Amino acid sequence: MARSSAVVTAAPLSIAMSLLPILELPHPHLRRVAAPVAAGRPADPAFQRLVDDMFETMYAAPGIGLAATQVDTHERFMVLDVTEGHEQPLVFVNPRIVSRTEQLRVHQEGCLSIPGIFADVTRADGVAVEALDRDGKPFVLEVDGLLATCIQHEIDHLDGRLFIDHLSALKRDRALKKYDKLRRQPD
Ligand code: NI
Repeated sequence: MARSSAVVTAAPLSIAMSLLPILELPHPHLRRVAAPVAAGRPADPAFQRLVDDMFETMYAAPGIGLAATQVDTHERFMVLDVTEGHEQPLVFVNPRIVSRTEQLRVHQEGCLSIPGIFADVTRADGVAVEALDRDGKPFVLEVDGLLATCIQHEIDHLDGRLFIDHLSALKRDRALKKYDKLRRQPD
């Protein structure tokens, strides 16, 4: 998920990690449904490196969430950090929402795969999520507010869904027209 605030903090330079290309709409792979992360995969150094690279890529964007789908890896995991100072890096492997509050929350969402487009999306205010951490250890997290919004947005990516899918046809058309126009403009 993109940062909607105007505050942009520079990511610290790192030579050990690398930035990954982020797929952008209308890339068809954004519509793929990711497969579960296999047991034992967290022990693979290549997996750990990919998680590190996804954090680096997300912080540099800057963003607050990035799903594996967005870097063309179709396995069910994602990284998030909704804090301003990169204080709460979270990894969710094979995440599953086990409960949602009836209370809803509207947030102006953006997406690193649809740069320049922001729109209000209504989702559950709170969720309970079961997942594995980057080492394959299970955990349950009950959260609300921005973090809950972001978790739902990123899990959508793993299912091939984008935030614009939650808009009315009229608002989606308007957003897509604006996106086409932005893409036709030279940087
Ligand atoms: Ni997104």
